[in-house]
Amino acid sequence: MQSREIRKQFLDFFKKQAHVIIPSASLVPKNDPSVLFTTAGMQQFKSYYISKADAQKDLNSLNVASSQKCVRTSDIEEVGDKSHLTFFEMLGNFSFGGYWKKEAIEYAHELITKDFGLKIDFISVFGGADNIPEDKESADIWKSIDSSIIIKKFGREDNFWGPTGEEGPCGPTTEIYVGGIEIWNIVFNEYYQSRDKELTPLKIRGVDTGMGLERLTFVTQGVSSAFETDLFESIIKRIKDISSVSEEKAERIVSDHIRTSVFMIADGVIASNTGRGYILRRLIRRAVRYADILGIAPGELFHVARSVILKYRDIYPELAKSSERIEKEILAEENKFRKTLREGLKQFEKGVDSFILFTTYGFPIELTEEIAREKGGIVDKDKFYKQLKEHQELSRKSSGQKFKK
Ligand code: SER
Repeated sequence: MQSREIRKQFLDFFKKQAHVIIPSASLVPKNDPSVLFTTAGMQQFKSYYISKADAQKDLNSLNVASSQKCVRTSDIEEVGDKSHLTFFEMLGNFSFGGYWKKEAIEYAHELITKDFGLKIDFISVFGGADNIPEDKESADIWKSIDSSIIIKKFGREDNFWGPTGEEGPCGPTTEIYVGGIEIWNIVFNEYYQSRDKELTPLKIRGVDTGMGLERLTFVTQGVSSAFETDLFESIIKRIKDISSVSEEKAERIVSDHIRTSVFMIADGVIASNTGRGYILRRLIRRAVRYADILGIAPGELFHVARSVILKYRDIYPELAKSSERIEKEILAEENKFRKTLREGLKQFEKGVDSFILFTTYGFPIELTEEIAREKGGIVDKDKFYKQLKEHQELSRKSSGQKFKK
């Protein structure tokens, strides 16, 4: 089954169960200033869980489903293994005071075992922690559906989710494992976590589920990594076409980082030295370094961007709309970096300070750190951030502007 059908089958299933299908929100969150990027499907629905908005009125239903574009870069260094990615599509069904645990678990079980024909390795439930009771109800529901199912109980780290950002809805989860990986996270939002980490029960109990399309496709297609699914096939092929060296990890990193960059640029992110722009810059610059390992000629990375646009433009028309701008931005950022890369590396060899490498040569601190690590050295990050803060304060004083984090 191709990814396109998998995505459709998920959404069709929930449509049949009277869910309204909501399009993906932008990667740049509109109503949550505490996060840089959309990291979960529930983010655009946050206010419905805390009864600040009326889902029935706004969305025409208490129950909705979506395939949401998400970016998570916290595991960027893990990209290159079989399943870590910085961009993914999250398939999710949500309820804001509509159905609760029984229906959510029954839907998930039916979809995974019947529609997708997958065998569940085991499921996990919240075993209780920090005075929050264990989720016996979910375990009982699973047992009533399949008495032979393996149930594992985990703590707060694994089976309690949220909030996104500094405060928001959160609650115990039940998770489904297939083919050795966790594929579906089903969250029962029943608490609100405040900024000082205090939990209070929510007035409306809500369901928030998230299943990575890439992971689901990976186990459904029976391949050995997310990069071998049809979602990456044409992108990896394009990379191989323009490479002179074959190196699996570098190919995976280039495909992942350029794919993420394409989606970010389409949603209006521009490479820069702060905030979102900095994350984009870091991704493109890291892709350039790995493109070099593959022997991809300078100025050729936009071909990879083009293959991403071709793969996704029917599902996400914003890519087709801004294809020219995306390719230009990637090429411009690559060129900018290349101008200083060689000189910067020379300065690095000479032991030049990581702050100078950042301000004069555009080396993100993490890049300097990675290069140092490859060479068996370390970088004094505390010193770097201290210098950066001083620098920002100085420029704030001289321009009279407010300090920007
Ligand atoms: N919000 C949960 C997650 O991101 C489930 O959708 O995993």
